[in-house]
Amino acid sequence: SVVRLEDYQPTPYQIDRVSMAFRLDPMQTEITTTLRMAPRQGSNNSQALKLQGDEINLIGARLNGSALDASHYEATPDSFVLHKPPQETFILEFVTRVAPDNNTQLMGLYRSSGTYCTQCEAEGFRRITYFYDRPDVLSVYEVRIEAPKDVPYLLANGNLIDSGDMDTPEGFDTAQAWHYAVWQDPFPKPSYLFAMVAGDLARVEDHFITRSGRNVALHIYVEHGKEDRVAYAMDSLKRSMKWDEDVFDREYDLDIFMILAVSDFNMGAMENKGLNIFNDKYVLAKPDTATDTDYALIEAVIAHEYFHNWTGNRITCRDWFQLCLKEGLTVFRDQEFSSDMRSRPVKRISDVRQLRARQFPEDSGPLAHPVRPEAYSEINNFYTATVYEKGAELCRMLKTLIGDDGFKDGLDLYFKRFDGQAVTIEDFLASFEEACSVNLTQFSQWYRQAGTPNLVATYTYDAARGQMSLTIEQSCPPTPGQPTKKLMQIPVRFGLVARDGSSATFSGIRDAKSGGLIGGSDCTLLTLTNREHTYIFEGVSTDALPSLARGFSAPIHLRTNLTLEDQLILVLHDTDPFNRWEATQFVLMDHLIRQTRANRSSSIAVDQPVNAALIEALKTCLLDDSLEHAFRAQLLQVPSEADIAREIGKNVNPDAIHAARESLRQELAKALGTTLVELYQSLQDGGAFQPDSASAGRRALRNGLLDLILAAGEGTAKGIATAHYNEASNMTDRFAALAAMTLNRSTAADALLTDFHDRYADDALVIDKWLSLQASSPQEGTIGKVKTLMDHPSFSMSNPNRVRALIGAFAMNNPIQFNRKDGEGFKLVADIILTLDRSNPQTAARLANNFRSWKVLEASRQTSAERELRRIANTEVLSKDVADIVNRCLQ
Ligand code: ARG
Ligand code: ZN
Repeated sequence: SVVRLEDYQPTPYQIDRVSMAFRLDPMQTEITTTLRMAPRQGSNNSQALKLQGDEINLIGARLNGSALDASHYEATPDSFVLHKPPQETFILEFVTRVAPDNNTQLMGLYRSSGTYCTQCEAEGFRRITYFYDRPDVLSVYEVRIEAPKDVPYLLANGNLIDSGDMDTPEGFDTAQAWHYAVWQDPFPKPSYLFAMVAGDLARVEDHFITRSGRNVALHIYVEHGKEDRVAYAMDSLKRSMKWDEDVFDREYDLDIFMILAVSDFNMGAMENKGLNIFNDKYVLAKPDTATDTDYALIEAVIAHEYFHNWTGNRITCRDWFQLCLKEGLTVFRDQEFSSDMRSRPVKRISDVRQLRARQFPEDSGPLAHPVRPEAYSEINNFYTATVYEKGAELCRMLKTLIGDDGFKDGLDLYFKRFDGQAVTIEDFLASFEEACSVNLTQFSQWYRQAGTPNLVATYTYDAARGQMSLTIEQSCPPTPGQPTKKLMQIPVRFGLVARDGSSATFSGIRDAKSGGLIGGSDCTLLTLTNREHTYIFEGVSTDALPSLARGFSAPIHLRTNLTLEDQLILVLHDTDPFNRWEATQFVLMDHLIRQTRANRSSSIAVDQPVNAALIEALKTCLLDDSLEHAFRAQLLQVPSEADIAREIGKNVNPDAIHAARESLRQELAKALGTTLVELYQSLQDGGAFQPDSASAGRRALRNGLLDLILAAGEGTAKGIATAHYNEASNMTDRFAALAAMTLNRSTAADALLTDFHDRYADDALVIDKWLSLQASSPQEGTIGKVKTLMDHPSFSMSNPNRVRALIGAFAMNNPIQFNRKDGEGFKLVADIILTLDRSNPQTAARLANNFRSWKVLEASRQTSAERELRRIANTEVLSKDVADIVNRCLQ
């Protein structure tokens, strides 16, 4: 059954108070839920009351204190209908029973390593009790938790208002003493933000004083023995709280903020009011177990969940179609936070890399959907890169279009006007329209239209007249359900770069058609609204090139008539660091495409010569000490195989791409030769590990150099890499050496993989890295290896992190083995999807997403992929989650 945006109706009744009591037990937790309800003002009072459930085991129901007669209601596992609800305020009470230990879906109430916890977004609360389990029903919650005393911590949203000893409940072992705790959350919230936790945990404490003087207790709960891995998360939290006050004027609103880290979690983390629950991967870090990437992710996810307190919790979504209202905006906010904490240009480059790797394939394939979808059959499948990452790009574009001050004014109005409400994208945009007196009608198409727009830009320079003409044309390819597209409003940041590297100026920009003035000599932004614009730059001081879409000012595909030589000028001289990097990628990509073609047309691959000017430009950049290490590390990263496949777009042969990329890396490494080794040596680690951005950047460059040095062949590189591994003082360096050796097929890799396993055998998060790396290996034997690893004691199908580490990495990071011609890669992943679907449909559906680009493959591979998709689709018992993804892939 499909849910549609256009069918939205408020509920006929509201629930203003919820009080719950949990009597915890692994196999039969009893939950008493009391709802204070009333007909919604202005609603049609004759409607029946229908609440949602999911596998609910109802023990009893009462209305206004009296047991309900069976004739007055109808209860099934997935709904409760009260035939004649009272027409004034009434109290509805349910007693339900759940088995946390049997909850393998990890939605609702479950146990992870013995700790009781909940995950309710999007529709998990209905697995605990019947409810209007939708984001526009806001209630105040009071939650009582009862448990044996060997479960010491009892937590829920809000403030602790009571706790103490209690009699052991009837039916439980009387030798076991019990206790209880009562929590009250004063902020009305939707059910998806409900959380409850109980466990024998370690607590790390700190505090934060808000700018108005509120002393907020900060508690992070982890498994015993992991206390020494919490410092960075705590520090990130405090920096997030301060930053949100400084930059967005948002202050925290309760006296306590808690974070729980669990090892079994479907997603990254969850922003439950006052009680965030995290996948422990995004909390736990110490130098010898976490990499710089892990540290950066922890900082970003801690910030993201904290920022949701205002963008998501205080102001929430009217319905799940508005998911990007909270997610896009909150991702935008966490990106800004990381940019301020670290290097802004490097953060932008890595965010765009992510967007292109995860969102662009979604947007160009069968799973394409608008940032604000209009229909869904399973909402969990819409927690996508499009909603999150493209959603964040839309906020960024809005800021670019209306300016920093306008953006701030619009957001201030949004926070003021909608605090405590469940709202829509239209409400969000209206705040900016009103605060800045702008019209966002055309801009709002970005929320409605799927697909990545194409821009084609052509420039000519007329030296005699000192004029540059620039024509930009927009189009957007069809996507499922949207054969034709409307024109979009697209911000294009730009600058001129003189061919000789000096600075280029202009006196003004005119619209070629109307002759009207578009901007003066300080103009840096063109706003496209028509299919085609031609701009005349007047008074151009010198022969110059346009540098377009600076900072990736819109989520588009840009093609220009800049030649390779032009791009190389940008590599050396563009003042926009993003476009400098982009130009490097362009030149590398140009080579890779030609090499891939050569590989396809001949069985003896002829290596194309690498552009000598590119080698020189790269060398110059690598040795330029005015450039950040992290930025130089980005320049060294050759476009990924997936990037190349996307650029080619159809009839893709992953083997030809892999070979092309390998040969380019080899040629680059040979040509850069001693430059790489000397720079590598100069970056030698010194002193104790520090997770800060500058230190991480130095390691990133050094490790990137090592990877490229190894690409040239083993020779002396093997010794360097082995020493790098053995002498590493932290996980970043040790794992980088292991990865470089494994992925470059070093003969020393196997021995080091064994060594690595033995060193970290009992550390699940480190073993995940070990699993992922082996699954990402391009070697022919990887499929067999993955199957063997599934029987390894460290692997478990019931833990989503393990599944993502091994199977997810295979499907996502190993294009040649997943897309194998013999279909074995697809078959392996399909088998696992089917097995996993029986216990955890949400994670199974995530895996199924890896089939989204099957239609770009060459015919024989398409046939194998389609065979597996059909096999899944035709399986008799299939979750809604997997069925939805697979059916859309096949459409
Ligand atoms: N709201 C969470 C976040 O982005 C994600 C939770 C999604 N959970 C789910 N089961 N779909 O921070
Ligand atoms: Zn979020």
